[in-house]
Amino acid sequence: MKVSSAGPSITFLSIGYLGKGQDMSSAALECAGPSKVAARPTTARDQLYRVENSARQNCADLARDFDMDKAEFDRFADEYQDQHRQSISITGEFPEYFSEYKIRKLKKIITHNNLTVFTICDFGSGIGNSIPFFQKHFPNAVLTSADVSQRSLELSRVHYPSADHLLVIENNIPVKDYSFDVTFSACVFHHIPSAEHVFWLRELHRVTRPGGLIAIFEHNALNPLTVRAVNSCPFDVNAKLILATDLLRRLLDAGWTAPTVQYNVFFPRALALLRPAEKYLHWLPLGAQYVVFARKGS
Ligand SMILES: C[S@@+](CC[C@H](N)C(=O)[O-])C[C@H]1O[C@@H](n2cnc3c(N)ncnc32)[C@H](O)[C@@H]1O
Repeated sequence: MKVSSAGPSITFLSIGYLGKGQDMSSAALECAGPSKVAARPTTARDQLYRVENSARQNCADLARDFDMDKAEFDRFADEYQDQHRQSISITGEFPEYFSEYKIRKLKKIITHNNLTVFTICDFGSGIGNSIPFFQKHFPNAVLTSADVSQRSLELSRVHYPSADHLLVIENNIPVKDYSFDVTFSACVFHHIPSAEHVFWLRELHRVTRPGGLIAIFEHNALNPLTVRAVNSCPFDVNAKLILATDLLRRLLDAGWTAPTVQYNVFFPRALALLRPAEKYLHWLPLGAQYVVFARKGS
């Protein structure tokens, strides 16, 4: 992994509370204040007050939701690894196995797509579990680990001082268009309300260069053992598992091309001898996890 000449960095940005996605545009209009409201045909003053009050309430709700989301993993960051280890103990594997599994899979997808990769964004990087495996499998790429949780990013820096860039996400991904060859995300979208998925997928599309690739790893809502593990995990208390078919549709809505799904993780450690057979099972929607990937048109 190449360390930038500026050295490891954390970027802190000011908070803009209207950062929760596309469907906020209507709320943003309402937040614009009475002049917007007054432009609508209205006959009675109390009706106007009602609309203004409801607009104010909407703004307050959005601000509170955003703060809750931000705080959610700040609260879990210090215990994240222990809780994660416990929730996957049923598989007989450790968190490192699953982190490396995803990066190996990403590498295969990239090779298959004939992509040259110099820059990668790990969107929702958490406490940095993927960093050592990016460093191992993409030694020449510059990695940006980005998250809404500052505490998680602080722990990343403590555990992996050689990490390239750590980036605080607020209401968008604060980098220029076309910054990355590849955008990657592991077990993040089920923590984001579904109404915001297309917003973040568009934002990831914006920061990916033309011809680049996105890969999103998620838990499979159709696998009963996955559902059990998620239900027993404290930091998944607000998680809403996503069907791969929904994510594929949202990728298209956000402008990505040729979205594809592969189902993964069919065999626990006790059946590790069968793992080579996984490559014949990617079509079967029963794996514990899946990856959806797509390209940005050139
Ligand atoms: C279950 S953790 C996964 C962390 C890491 N990807 C991993 O595999 O270990 C989910 C992470 O997504 C982050 N997250 C949630 N919403 C986000 C958003 N809108 N933008 C960026 N990160 C977000 C959380 O702060 C948390 O660190």
